[in-house]
Amino acid sequence: MKKIIMILTACLSLSLTAAEEGLVLPHDKLPKLSGDALTISMQRGLQVYTNNCLGCHGLSFQRYNRTAKDLEISDEAMLENIIFSDAKIGDLMTNTMREKSAANWFGTAPPDLSLIARSRGTDWLYNYMRAFYQDESRPYGMNNSVFKDVGMPHVLETMQGIQTKTDKVKGLENTIEMAKADIAATRKLLEEGSTAEGLSEKIEKAQESIHVAEEELKTLSAAGEYFSLVKEGKLSPEEFNQSMADLVHFLDYVAEPIKRERQRLGIWVLLFILGFGCVAYLLKKEYWKDIH
Ligand code: HEC
Repeated sequence: MKKIIMILTACLSLSLTAAEEGLVLPHDKLPKLSGDALTISMQRGLQVYTNNCLGCHGLSFQRYNRTAKDLEISDEAMLENIIFSDAKIGDLMTNTMREKSAANWFGTAPPDLSLIARSRGTDWLYNYMRAFYQDESRPYGMNNSVFKDVGMPHVLETMQGIQTKTDKVKGLENTIEMAKADIAATRKLLEEGSTAEGLSEKIEKAQESIHVAEEELKTLSAAGEYFSLVKEGKLSPEEFNQSMADLVHFLDYVAEPIKRERQRLGIWVLLFILGFGCVAYLLKKEYWKDIH
């Protein structure tokens, strides 16, 4: 009994910390694709990846020829269009960046992304890639609203351009900051034993205003009004979103190359069980016919 209570308390405190992590925006869902559309999207994603990411992030569990086979690309096309280094078709998709120097340049070494779609989830990745914004307080003038103070530069600037939080968003975030400061100050007064009137009401009111502001931020984000472009890139916002969906579909494939095969097989297995179930039932009926 004691053990069960301990486990339950642990679960509860875990979910509480998750709730306390706060609001992470944008919070969009990765568009779903299947069949040929998914294969084509993954092919485009592979291209975006090798052109923009592989230099820093290796995929150390993935070989070029396996990728070519799974994504229905011929070895020749792979060699001609995807592999720019002197890598061979059977090589692992890694780079030659040395971890120590990388850590010196960026503060943190760029991690291998073989399993990132599983550890972070595809929605998180889709939002992260679209969340770089202008922030003068950062060393390179950029930040990321999904991964705060990230060490990765905004490498897709030529594609996306530069975006900034809209004035409305900045205003709402200001309101939240002020309300939080209010709450902290009032709590301190209470802790010090102040008996002044209306302190707990003040806290409640501030919490309410945080809630309202957060709801408004979510609405703005869902309407695509969280950021606005201050410098245009080569792609329109819709094209850029699509390109990031391609990239994430590719990373999703890399994280579990057998996934599509598994799903395809799974349907046949289920159909077989269903068919065999029917046969077994008819057989049972036939056997018991004379006994009943
Ligand atoms: C110039 C080097 C560089 C390039 C190019 C680059 N990144 Fe990064 N990336 C980094 C660094 C450094 C970090 C670690 C940041 C940190 O932990 O603060 C990082 C972190 C990340 C993370 C977060 C990993 C985590 O800890 O969860 C993801 C996802 C990611 N990069 C994806 C990409 C993708 C996709 C591309 C290609 C469009 C790309 N990166 C291109 C340097 C780079």
